[in-house]
Amino acid sequence: MQTHEIVKRFREHFEKAGHTVVPSASLLLDDPNLLFVNAGMVPFKPYFLGEAPAPYERATSVQKCVRTGDIEEVGKTARHLTFFQMAGNFSFGDYFKEDAIRFAWSLLTNPVAEGGFGLDPERLWATVYLDDDESAELWQKIAGLPPERVQRRDVEDNYWSMGVPGPCGPCSEIYYDRGPEHGAEGGPIVDEDRYLEVWNLVFMQNERGPGGAKRDYPIIGELPAKNIDTGLGVERLASVLQGVDNVYETDLVRAVITRAEQLSGKRYGDDATDDVRFRVIADHARSGVMLVGDGVTPGNEARGYVLRRLLRRIVRSSRLLGVTEPVLVTFAETVRDEMGPTYPELVKDFGRIVNIVRAEEETFLQTLSAGSKIFDTAATQLRSSGGSTLPGDKAFQLHDTYGFPIDLTLEMAAEAGLTVDEQGFRDLMAEQRARAKADAASRKTGHGDQSVYRELLDLGATEFTGYGELTSEASVRGVVRDGQRVRSAGEGEIVEVVLDRTPLYAESGGQESDAGTIVADGVELEVVDVQKVARKLWVHRVRVRNGEVVEGQQVQARVDPEWRTGARQGHSGTHVVHAALRQVLGPTALQSGSYNKPGYLRLDFAWTGGLSEATRSEIEEVSNLAVRQDLPVQVVYTDMGGAQDMGAVALFGETYDETVRVVEIGGPWSRELCGGTHVEHSSQIGPITLLGESSVGSGVRRLEAYVGIEAFRYLAQERAMVQNVATLLKVPDAEVPGRVEALVERLRVAEKELERLRAAQLLSSAGQLAERAVDVRGVSLVALALPGGTSAGDLRTIALEVRGRLGERPGVVALFATDGPKVAFVVATTAAARDLGLAAGKLVPAFAPAVGGRGGGKPDMAQGGGTDPSGVDAALAAVSAEVDRALASR
Ligand code: SER
Repeated sequence: MQTHEIVKRFREHFEKAGHTVVPSASLLLDDPNLLFVNAGMVPFKPYFLGEAPAPYERATSVQKCVRTGDIEEVGKTARHLTFFQMAGNFSFGDYFKEDAIRFAWSLLTNPVAEGGFGLDPERLWATVYLDDDESAELWQKIAGLPPERVQRRDVEDNYWSMGVPGPCGPCSEIYYDRGPEHGAEGGPIVDEDRYLEVWNLVFMQNERGPGGAKRDYPIIGELPAKNIDTGLGVERLASVLQGVDNVYETDLVRAVITRAEQLSGKRYGDDATDDVRFRVIADHARSGVMLVGDGVTPGNEARGYVLRRLLRRIVRSSRLLGVTEPVLVTFAETVRDEMGPTYPELVKDFGRIVNIVRAEEETFLQTLSAGSKIFDTAATQLRSSGGSTLPGDKAFQLHDTYGFPIDLTLEMAAEAGLTVDEQGFRDLMAEQRARAKADAASRKTGHGDQSVYRELLDLGATEFTGYGELTSEASVRGVVRDGQRVRSAGEGEIVEVVLDRTPLYAESGGQESDAGTIVADGVELEVVDVQKVARKLWVHRVRVRNGEVVEGQQVQARVDPEWRTGARQGHSGTHVVHAALRQVLGPTALQSGSYNKPGYLRLDFAWTGGLSEATRSEIEEVSNLAVRQDLPVQVVYTDMGGAQDMGAVALFGETYDETVRVVEIGGPWSRELCGGTHVEHSSQIGPITLLGESSVGSGVRRLEAYVGIEAFRYLAQERAMVQNVATLLKVPDAEVPGRVEALVERLRVAEKELERLRAAQLLSSAGQLAERAVDVRGVSLVALALPGGTSAGDLRTIALEVRGRLGERPGVVALFATDGPKVAFVVATTAAARDLGLAAGKLVPAFAPAVGGRGGGKPDMAQGGGTDPSGVDAALAAVSAEVDRALASR
């Protein structure tokens, strides 16, 4: 049964049972604890926690998921994927254990002809949490599973949470016995390769606090209702239903392996090591493309880093399979063809996706070639010193600086007949990891312990009043100092203040937080930052200027109106520039990040190659025309479906079923999902000046601009500069460019003339120098110090010229020049001198130490430098003595 059919049957089964079909959310949801959506339940988390009312009692979805914790296992086991689809059914306070088991059992075992998956009931096993007798009995009652096929496991295996604070509960997992050829008898507790977990039913009923991922965390309370969250691994079930050995060989994944076979000329199945590489490519190609599709670009941090690692592992695995040409675009095409029917945005957005992966591969190939050079040099040195083990720090340097994974270094070393000090490498890696961990831990505490905010959140969310007013009456919900709740804080302290309502905008969506004050009688707090916690709680970081802030106090929160005017201009300006950008470059130029504050904006977008001056001007022109047209700015509240129908640009992070805010400028001209504060008419933005455009990593460009009064000031400054130049040049402004051009031309002519004169002078001085030759045992020796400031290049030219003038005679020329604390020297010999055994390179060691220097070269010419000008005379004497000695010893 094909994967698409599995998904279809799953959906139909639950739709028939009254579940609302919910589309997959983006892989990137706005959850500070999660890098990527890693389970089907993530988008529903607020409903489980009771933070928002569920819009339906039953839902079903097939959610895209990325888990990269086990990346090293990919390709080595039968079941580890970094990208997979999780099919799930959910109950929000509606049905519980009995129906969850019934629904799952009937779908798995119903005959194929009747819409089921037709699995043999005799091959199915279940596990339950230690004390969950109820589920064990239900398995017997509903499925007729004998007690020996229902195994009990502890919290590590049968108590599910997201690994971080949030909803959790005991779970019951369903396993399929793949048969004795896959491992030992005895159920999942004995062998999880033979008994493959296909479906996990979680009985969500509690909330957990911080602690370990799978154990050692506190249960902090019960959820408002008993819920169901199930997850069926679509690719795992496909491997069972398609009778293949592992998830990589299922229809949608295998296609990439086939492509890699064509490119490499190798056959999957021929060699165990190569097979792992084929599987890594197949898995990573899917996760890589899906992540780019959802808006991630390769980078060196967080999400971007994970993506980079995935893409680079593909390129490297391909190389190890013997493919030398670029591969990412080809693999991306295969993924698009396989996944496009389910995720049409991959097809629509493919131009952008391809730009990003192509640029990343180009960058990596450059890295690879630079790293290979380092490796080759190290290998040559090693061999010439008689060694055969590449030191651990070299392997680490290759990894750290050139992104060389250790197995690539191992492979290259093996090819070169060398080994690698792997232990040394691993020690250095461990040190680095420990450093990174300490760093991350200190950053986390910097954000404060989350539990204090949860406590405050229990008192209610903060109401944001700032769309409608700049001053609001509010009361102080809590005061937090260094992550601890305190009753009050006094003058000079920096603390966090949570209010029940506030007009101050918290940093989000690229917009900087508002500046402002919180005041009461005799109390003044300066707001230095505002952040949202859990999207609901506004946390104001304040400096107490006067008086004392006390929990429960009535206060007035005020936005600085000047600031807000600028902030609105900055944010609306960002939308205008984004729309202009897409109008000029086309819709693939999608924003991947932005930042704006009063007077300034910056926008990162997916694009390869720089923008020409003309393109930049065009974007600027389109932006300013939109300002002049005085387009109305409108805010529309709708749901995700409505927003998509309107064609609003969704940058990522939005869930599909909550109310979203669409900001329009000129109706359809610019429509974006956005929570920011905006002007009412585009003319209020004022002028927009682009500052320039630059690269910020592969496939991402950055545009920066000033808006409003800042734009005016910037232009005024430029004008003043032009006037200054005009005054200096004594011409009217308009004639500056012509005048500068003429001056540059004159300068060029003058420099050329100077060059010619200098060359002529050098040649004539060479004649004079040659005449100063002295005779040393029949050899003409010109050993002289030239005037200070002669460059090394000139020194060389003169030396060769002098040598030329010595003609057929045996002759040696040794010239020195000092430049501040430095000495440069050149030695040249004529052919006749070389016949007498005088080699330039061999003369150097005799005199170089006198000027504190070194050098070397060939028999006809050598050069070098030193750091002791006071030794020049001694060096000259040493040259002469050495020539004398060499000739005498013949
Ligand atoms: N949330 C559970 C899991 O990810 C079941 O959907 O396994």
